[in-house]
Amino acid sequence: MTRRTPGRRALVTGGAGLIGSHLSDLLLRQGYRVRILDNLEPNTHRKGRPPWIPTQAEFLHADVRDQKAINSALEGVSVVFHQAAYGGYMPEISKYVEVNSLGTARLLETIRDENLPVEKVVVASSQAVYREGAAECLRHGLVFPDTRPTDQLAAGDYAVHCPVCGEPSDPVPTPEEAPMGGETVYAITKSDQERLALAWGRQTGVPTVALRYSCTYGPRQSIFNPYTGVIAIFATRLLNGQPPVLYEDGEQTRDLCFVGDVARANLLAAESDALDGLPVNVGSGRATTIREVAEMVSEALGVRIEPLARGEFRPGEMRHLTSDISRARAAGYEPGVDLMQGIEEYIGWIGDQGDVRDYFAEAEKVLREKRIVHETRPTGP
Ligand SMILES: NC(=O)c1ccc[n+]([C@@H]2O[C@H](COP(=O)([O-])OP(=O)(O)OC[C@H]3O[C@@H](n4cnc5c(N)ncnc54)[C@H](O)[C@@H]3O)[C@@H](O)[C@H]2O)c1
Ligand SMILES: [Zn+2]
Repeated sequence: MTRRTPGRRALVTGGAGLIGSHLSDLLLRQGYRVRILDNLEPNTHRKGRPPWIPTQAEFLHADVRDQKAINSALEGVSVVFHQAAYGGYMPEISKYVEVNSLGTARLLETIRDENLPVEKVVVASSQAVYREGAAECLRHGLVFPDTRPTDQLAAGDYAVHCPVCGEPSDPVPTPEEAPMGGETVYAITKSDQERLALAWGRQTGVPTVALRYSCTYGPRQSIFNPYTGVIAIFATRLLNGQPPVLYEDGEQTRDLCFVGDVARANLLAAESDALDGLPVNVGSGRATTIREVAEMVSEALGVRIEPLARGEFRPGEMRHLTSDISRARAAGYEPGVDLMQGIEEYIGWIGDQGDVRDYFAEAEKVLREKRIVHETRPTGP
């Protein structure tokens, strides 16, 4: 069933960000009244309020940790798109828990305790909730390997081994049935957001969907935040005459999804009841190595600098992750933008952003100091 009542009010938390802002534009085009709640997180919005917050939307400059702000944000709202989150590989722990876990808890609790007439909650989850991408073993078929041990990575073995026989395995698209258990602080709190929301939906009967986005990119992706967004990071490195830095050997694969496709998946989740109560992968369904991403960005920019692979790695990071998008497809989702086309669109947008300082070198130092990035210990001769 599709529900589309003109004039319904939608709340988009994090609506000043990459996904939230494209979603807000789409909702306005569809006739929704849009309210945005966003605290303009300084790591993401170093220049303050971004020019793309639509003037037709109501903008609340406030924090999801603020109970009063949540109460006002929810007034008269039919659909909630909860996109606000603290993201990436930042060194904090408590801030992730406060913003992502506690912020989501407060939002859900308020809807229930105030008995608000919210008809749908769509929460931004992430593919980071998985431990590792699904894999195929020659002897054991489809397997769900665990996070690779840090000692294994430190010894320079980046392969994903079959959890049954220990032989190297081949990556395959990951379905929603794969076990959760991503081990970064971000992943732990994204799991919290998803599980709290889906459990709350079952309890209260409010239809709730958790969209597990793959790596999303596109115009408006912060060029200031060096901890997220591989395409944004590579582009800013190259524009500063610096080589892109590849962790491990650069042969890890990711599913890169254009932001417009993610926005459409949100609308679909809100308007169809086919996905209610479920976690749903949203991605392109295609695998690309990080080395290929570096090459594509370099080609789109016309800046030829060989990427650096110094054998560094990030404990807890997955080796391969491509989303199996059959569930979303069955409900009508179809990714529309091809990777090179999307990268070119992003690069075109960066060209209009003026000064693109390289925040990466500074950030890298912090990542090493805080033990988020480790170095491989050379072994053997
Ligand atoms: N971009 C990706 O690759 C990706 C992948 C998987 C999941 N996600 C999830 O999608 C959602 C949107 O991500 P995005 O890529 O648009 O990131 P983004 O950083 O561009 O946008 C997030 C927005 O949330 C706001 N925000 C952060 N903390 C807040 C707080 N305490 N109170 C209010 N607002 C706050 C930020 O100011 C920002 O505008 C997030 O929940 C993120 O975890 C993103
Ligand atoms: Zn096996």
